[in-house]
Amino acid sequence: MRFKNPIMGVVLGTALLGAGISNAFAADETLRSLAEKNGIYIGAILNSQWFSGGLPANYEQIHKAQFNIVVAENEMKFDATEPQEGRFSYGNGDKMVKYAQQNGMRVRGHALAWHSQVPGWVNNYRNDKQKLLKVLKNHIQNVVSHWKGKVAEWDVVNEAISNNEPMWRSQSVWYQGIGPEFIDSAFVWTHAVDPDAELCYNDYNLEQGINSKAKAGFLLEQVKRWVKNGIPIHCVGSQTHVEDTTTDKHFIGSPDSLRSLAKELAKLNVKLKITELDIGFKSGVNVSKKDLERQGETFRQYLDIILEEPNADTYLIWGVSDKWSWLSGLNRQKGLIYDDNLKPKPAFDSILVRLQNFEPPQDTTKKDTTAKDTTVKDTTKKDTTVKDTTKKDTTEAIAKIASRATVSAYVAGRTLFVTGLGLKTTAKVDLFDMQGRPVFSTQSENGMVDLKNISEGYYVVRITAGSAKTVQRVNIK
Ligand code: G3I
Repeated sequence: MRFKNPIMGVVLGTALLGAGISNAFAADETLRSLAEKNGIYIGAILNSQWFSGGLPANYEQIHKAQFNIVVAENEMKFDATEPQEGRFSYGNGDKMVKYAQQNGMRVRGHALAWHSQVPGWVNNYRNDKQKLLKVLKNHIQNVVSHWKGKVAEWDVVNEAISNNEPMWRSQSVWYQGIGPEFIDSAFVWTHAVDPDAELCYNDYNLEQGINSKAKAGFLLEQVKRWVKNGIPIHCVGSQTHVEDTTTDKHFIGSPDSLRSLAKELAKLNVKLKITELDIGFKSGVNVSKKDLERQGETFRQYLDIILEEPNADTYLIWGVSDKWSWLSGLNRQKGLIYDDNLKPKPAFDSILVRLQNFEPPQDTTKKDTTAKDTTVKDTTKKDTTVKDTTKKDTTEAIAKIASRATVSAYVAGRTLFVTGLGLKTTAKVDLFDMQGRPVFSTQSENGMVDLKNISEGYYVVRITAGSAKTVQRVNIK
């Protein structure tokens, strides 16, 4: 159901929120169906309790009805997947992958190289650099190849930047034992095993500004270096664990800051994803209906980044219901979009209404030069030959490769135009729907493709012209 008059949608939505009638018009529309219409992924973790069957049946019903991307709260982490050296444990991760396949969901893998949730046996090697390099490489090779083709994107490196100053986090077995080159190496090793997977650097506090003293400012410099050196990084995951501003007066993060990061990353052809969103209130404070409405407004502001920035495609919440949330460990509460009884909160409505009423900007087809859809991977980043850094152990050891695509496409009327072909006059054009299903393929001899037989909607187009390739989203109207 799409409101004929968008203003009516906003008015009705606002009235419903004001009346506290939650989710009154969601019967035939879900966050998921609306996200798909808008060409984005919306998701929530599967909480650890789900894996042991410890959650009520409506948890899963809600999860699969409302979300089209999923990540495991703990089950793909190092301690879960390699609890003993060389003995891999994939049962829980496989369970989630099967669930995702049965329900047509995309899978995020979280996380390969992280200082936390590392099993005790790894620490035995903290003074043996060569051994630690082998341990990390072996872990990545096993885990990534086990889920190759099933996990669409990985948090390759998680939380490697210090909270206090713009530098790498020193309290990490990988940093202490190997040095910062563990980061470049982790990306290289992951890409070598699964060149189709999207590879992210994931961290928190990235919504706190992009100046040189802020975490995101430091990260941006690293992303520039990675891109320049051909390190296969495709996305930055902003965890976005934030606190409501009324209970934390000193909280300095904002959706605007995160949007600035997205814009800077776009210049590098790197995506921004919101990967672990929650917006909590301090524990112990009374949370009023008005507070919950304001919380919904903040959820909406973060969603706007994903809807509006062409290089942003994922909005993932770190939990479903306030009842099962890690936030109490952070002295926060009520940070999710369903309450303790699995009833949608104003934040749910706020997201739903925004998805219902979002109108892509008129010039979106021309603006979309950065790959937006991730069902089909950007192959420009695949054509790279990277060297294994274990042998030299320096980031400099990685060959400079990055040959970026120059071809691009836009739609005008019912014709797709391929630009940047130069002397190459022929381009192979493949069109996919937003679930990654092929719609048609053709060979274009003159840089133009007739789209008159294609139904309206968002698609992903892949252009291949010699060694130049690009993948991008187009809107056919
Ligand atoms: O595995 C043990 C289990 O054997 C034991 O019986 C149980 C008893 O408490 O504890 C289990 O380990 C817990 C683990 O979750 C699995 O349930 C740990 O104590 C607990 O600390 C751990 O917390 C997780 C936390 O990461 C650890 O860093 C949270 O569930 C999880 O939500 C949280 O997720 C992180 C992301 O991975 C990265 N970004 C921040 C985010 C929130 O902290």
